[in-house]
Amino acid sequence: MAVSSTMTIPVAPGSPIVGNMLPMLTAMGEFLTKQYLRLGPVFRVRVLNHRLLVLAGPEANALMKKQGHRLFTSGAAMQDIHQVLGGDNPTLIELDGPDHRTMRAGLKDGYSGRTLYAQMEKLVRSQFHLLESWPLRTPIAAFPRVKRLVSSLLGYMATNQEPAEVMDDLIYFFRALVQIHIRKVRPASMKYLPRYVASKRTVHAMARRIWDEHHVRDYLERDGDFVDLVRKFHAEHPRLMNERDAVAALIGPFVAGMDTAASVTSFLLYYILRDPELHRAVVAEADLAFASGFPDRDSLRGMVQTRHAAMEILRLHPPAPALPRTSIADFEFQGYRIPRDEYCIIANTVTHHLPQYFPDPQRFNAGRYSPDRQEHLQPNVYCPYGLGPHTCLGATTADLLYLVITAVLFRHFHVEMQPPDQALHVVMNPLPGPDDRFRIAIIGTRYPLPRSPGRTPPA
Ligand code: HEM
Repeated sequence: MAVSSTMTIPVAPGSPIVGNMLPMLTAMGEFLTKQYLRLGPVFRVRVLNHRLLVLAGPEANALMKKQGHRLFTSGAAMQDIHQVLGGDNPTLIELDGPDHRTMRAGLKDGYSGRTLYAQMEKLVRSQFHLLESWPLRTPIAAFPRVKRLVSSLLGYMATNQEPAEVMDDLIYFFRALVQIHIRKVRPASMKYLPRYVASKRTVHAMARRIWDEHHVRDYLERDGDFVDLVRKFHAEHPRLMNERDAVAALIGPFVAGMDTAASVTSFLLYYILRDPELHRAVVAEADLAFASGFPDRDSLRGMVQTRHAAMEILRLHPPAPALPRTSIADFEFQGYRIPRDEYCIIANTVTHHLPQYFPDPQRFNAGRYSPDRQEHLQPNVYCPYGLGPHTCLGATTADLLYLVITAVLFRHFHVEMQPPDQALHVVMNPLPGPDDRFRIAIIGTRYPLPRSPGRTPPA
C-alpha cells in the first residue's frame, strides 16, 4: 500500500501516568511484536517521561544495517555510560563515526574471546569448583547461580583472575546500570541509592586495582590479555582514551557480557533439562568435548546441538531485544517522516517472532538451524547480536561462555531440574531469564577433572 509521508505516527495505548513502562519492563520483545502487528513498522511508546519512537520489522533491520551509521547516533541514548564507569570520554558504545571505528578496531581482538581460549584449563577448573560448591541434591534457583558462573569467566577475560570478592557488587551494579542508563526503565533517582553508590565504588576500585597491578606486556605476545590491549590502545590514542577512560574500559566486558550471557545460559539449561532427548545429546557432546583432556575451540564448536539450542534461545528470548538510538537526520521510512533528534528504538528482534520467517514462532525448535532449514539465514530477520556499526563484538565470547558452562556442568555432574516438569516463567533481571521457580539440583559427580597436560599422574 502506498502511504503518504504526512501519515501520523500511531501511538501504543498505555497508562496515562507510566505509559508502557510495565510491558517494556517485563516483556519488551512480546510487547513490541504485538504493537508491530497492530500498528505497523513505526509507532510511539512511552516509558515514564521518555517518549520513544519504535522502528521494527525486516525493513527497519535492513535500514539499520545499511544506513545505521548515517541516520542514528548511539551516543545520545547512552551518553552517561562513561561517567557511570568512571571515565571522562565516551566508551565504545557511545561513540560514532571515525572515532568509533578506530576504537572498535583497537579493542576488537580483545573482545573476541581469543584470550579466553588460551586460558581454557583455568576456566574449566574455576567452573568446576564453583559447581562443586553448590549444595548436593538440593534444588537451587538457576539464574542467580548462572550469573556467578558467567561473571567468574568474564573475570578471567577482563582481569585475568576471578572477581570472587566483588561478585555481589558486580551483579548488583550492572543490573542497576542496565535498568537506569541503558533500558531507562527505572527512574534516574535510583542512582543515588546507597546500595548503588557503594557497589559502583567497589567496581571502580576493582578496575583501578587491576590497572595498577597489571604488568605491561606486548599484546602480540601469545599470552597478552584484554588489559594489555586496553593499555596499548590508551598509549596509542590518548585523545580517545585517557588513563581514567582506560580504567573504565576494563569494566566493559562485564557491562556488555555479564547479563547477556547469563540470560542465554540460564534459558539454555532450562531447555536442556526439560527435554530428555536434548539432555542426552548435550551430555554426549560434553563428553566428546572432554575426550582428549581439556576442551579447545574446536571441541567446543563441535557441540552442534548445544549451539543450535542456544541460537534458538537467542531467537526466542533475545537478551537485547531493541537498540536505543537518536536520529541525526530527517528521513522517510515506510511512508513516515522520522524527524531528527528523536529518541528511537530499533526493535531488531521483532522479526524473530513473525511466522512468515519462523513458522510456529513461539515454539522452541532447535531444528530450525539444521543444514536443511537454516531459517536464520533469511535476510534481515535473525539479529540477536544487533545490526550496523555497533554489532556485538563479543558474539564469539558469548558462545565460549555458554559452551564452557554447559560442557563442564554436563560432563562432570549429574544434573536434574526439580520439579522435572517445571513450566517456564520469564523474569527481567535486568534482562530476560527463567524466574526462580526454575531450580536445578546436582545429584552427583560423573567424571573428575582431566589431568593437566604435562602433569605426571600420581604413582
Ligand atoms: C548472548 C550474549 C550477547 C548478546 C545477545 C549481545 C548483544 C549485543 C547487541 C545487540 C549489541 C549492539 C548494541 C547496540 O547496537 O546498541 C552488542 C554490542 C556489544 N557487545 Fe554484545 N552481546 C552479548 C554478549 C557479549 C559479550 C560476552 C561481550 C564481551 C565480553 C559483548 C561485547 C559487546 C560490545 C563491546 C559491544 C559494543 C560494540 C560497539 O559499540 O561497537 N557482548 N551486543
